[in-house]
Amino acid sequence: MKILVLNGPNLNLLGLREPELYGSRTYPDLVEFCREAASAAGAEAEVRQTNHEGVLVDWIQQARGVFDAIVLNAAAYTHTSVAILDAIKAVRIPVAEVHLTEPKEREPFRRVSYVGMAAEAVFSGRGFDSYADAIRHFAAKGA
Ligand code: DQA
Repeated sequence: MKILVLNGPNLNLLGLREPELYGSRTYPDLVEFCREAASAAGAEAEVRQTNHEGVLVDWIQQARGVFDAIVLNAAAYTHTSVAILDAIKAVRIPVAEVHLTEPKEREPFRRVSYVGMAAEAVFSGRGFDSYADAIRHFAAKGA
């Protein structure tokens, strides 16, 4: 099974960015963590990051016929992007929403999730393990 792991804005700054919230491990650490979690679950993960909303839309569209599932941390776009919501609905690839933190326990503007309106599952608040939970979710059910 091929899983596409997509990361949105500012996640490239992991390690540097608000470490009290996001931890001290870096984005390259996250890439390696996801690859290892997928391989341990008998799957394969391709991990990407962009700061641009339209690039996330392009990658979701291009995943059709290539990937079995998408693990998506759209970061701040989670709370604003109707375009990403529409892309997820259009491609009909199962999507799991992930977050390092628990957005619902933070500022009120993080309580809305457009991604969550189309995602089949949400894994949040467990740091890197949120990604492993999402990868295992798809591996266990065969996407
Ligand atoms: C985040 C939570 C979002 O609210 C925030 O904008 C992020 C990271 C998380 O992984 O906890 O950039 O998606």
